[in-house]
Amino acid sequence: MITHFADLKLKTVSLQGVKQFYHDLLHFPVAREEENEIEFQPTPDVTLTFEEASEPVTPVHIAFEVAFSQFELIVQKLGEQVPLLKWPDGKIVEYIDSGANVYFRDGDGNLVEFIAHPYVKEGVLAPNGTYGILYLREVGLPVEDPIAARLWMKQTLGLTLAKESDQFAFVIGGTAHAVVVSTMRKWIPIAMYALAPSMEITYGVTDESFLDRVRSSLDRRLIISDTEEGLLFRMYGYSIRLRVTSFPDDIAVRLNLPHAAVGEEVNSVINEVGQSTF
Ligand SMILES: [Fe+2]
Repeated sequence: MITHFADLKLKTVSLQGVKQFYHDLLHFPVAREEENEIEFQPTPDVTLTFEEASEPVTPVHIAFEVAFSQFELIVQKLGEQVPLLKWPDGKIVEYIDSGANVYFRDGDGNLVEFIAHPYVKEGVLAPNGTYGILYLREVGLPVEDPIAARLWMKQTLGLTLAKESDQFAFVIGGTAHAVVVSTMRKWIPIAMYALAPSMEITYGVTDESFLDRVRSSLDRRLIISDTEEGLLFRMYGYSIRLRVTSFPDDIAVRLNLPHAAVGEEVNSVINEVGQSTF
């Protein structure tokens, strides 16, 4: 099963620019730095990689989960470093039933969110860095046909759907929430066009047998590479990699995430019927 976002690889027009933003302002440790690539490590289990490219960069939406008990302090510290985005009514922090969030943009225009939920059990994952980051929660995947894409992800990757509408759904595995949206729906809070960015998402998965089931269900033409670095394939215009990691398979339950029980059910059904449903 899928447990988390292990890496997200984005394009940038300036490595120096992303370093000034993610390292100097957000204090993400630099795990690796090469001529054309830089890798940040906001938590021990997540890397954020930027590859420099001489081409237009389409902004992506990502969200990091932070501790709810620290949220106001985090927003205060963040606001001293970067301009925080406003909603049309002028507010910056949105408090909703299930939590609170704040948005800002990096130098390439990527829409970054810090989000916190009171139901997330603290003390399970250690908060990391100045802003107490727990995990990479969201990666936005704008697609032309969000209903087909989310069903494919559910059936082929064993993910769980939540908050489904014609233009939106969370497609969830462990802590990872792919935000599968229509390219017709704009990103909040600044009504930003949801164009499809060029990116490579690496999902952490629990074991080789899960990889085998996905491998056997994939159309061969979608597979880009299949090595010890994981299984890399195309999915609705995106590059997706599945890589076995040691991230806990029961992380959603331990964190008390609301979809955890449903996810367990879905995964146990998939395990029981094996390849036939894949
Ligand atoms: Fe979001």
